[in-house]
Parts: sequence; C-alpha cells; structure tokens
Amino acid sequence: MVRRSKRKLRRLSRNFPVNVQTDSVDILPCASIPSPLTIPMSELPKIAGRTPVKVSLEEGKNYAYCTCGLSENQPFCDGAHKGTDFKPIVFTAEADADMHVCMCKRTANGPRCDGMHKSLPEES
Ligand code: FES
Repeated sequence: MVRRSKRKLRRLSRNFPVNVQTDSVDILPCASIPSPLTIPMSELPKIAGRTPVKVSLEEGKNYAYCTCGLSENQPFCDGAHKGTDFKPIVFTAEADADMHVCMCKRTANGPRCDGMHKSLPEES
C-alpha cells in the first residue's frame, strides 16, 4: 500500500483504478484492467477491415466515425449501431488533410488508426 498526497491521488486516478477512500492508493494489478483481448467477443465491435483506410477530410466538415463496425458506409456511421452500446465518434475536420482511419475498430485513438490491427487474432 502506497501513501500519496491528495493531489497525487487525483493525478494517479486518471491512469489507474484507485481506491481513494483510505487516503492511499491501491495500485490494482494490471490483470484487473481488462485488455481488449479479454473482453467477450460479443462486446467487441465488429472488425470492419483488417487495415486502415485513407480518407481525405475537408476542413470544417463534420464526420461521424463508426465505432461498432456494422455500418455499410465504412468508416463512417450509418446508424446501424442503434440498439447497441456503441456510439459514433463525431468530429469536425480542422484542415483539408488525409487521415488513416481505423477499420478494425480496436483503436484507442479513434478515428485514427493506432496499429492495433496488427495484433488482431488470425482470421478463422
Ligand atoms: S453504425 Fe457504427 S457507430 Fe454508427
């Protein structure tokens, strides 16, 4: 058990599941933080593609990135997520630019690809 000041507690609580009741930090073992590989398949989004797709964004235009993988308009939302716990990531392009958009829906930096597709299990 580690004793820390309240300010450090607040900072740590952004990164770790902490127990703040006891004025100390119980840094829970990493095993208690579910990795994407341990979340039941039923709760994971559908893999819409195994490689990212390059999209040319237009400055000032709004986009809704599909996080569920069910959309027929990938990588963008078409409402197919309705009835699921998934919601699209809505964003406005800050400039005319190309973006490699995640299609495996495992990215931690949506809508951008973060390379998670490289650790997808082999296709069965
Ligand atoms: S269709 Fe996938 S988030 Fe809307």
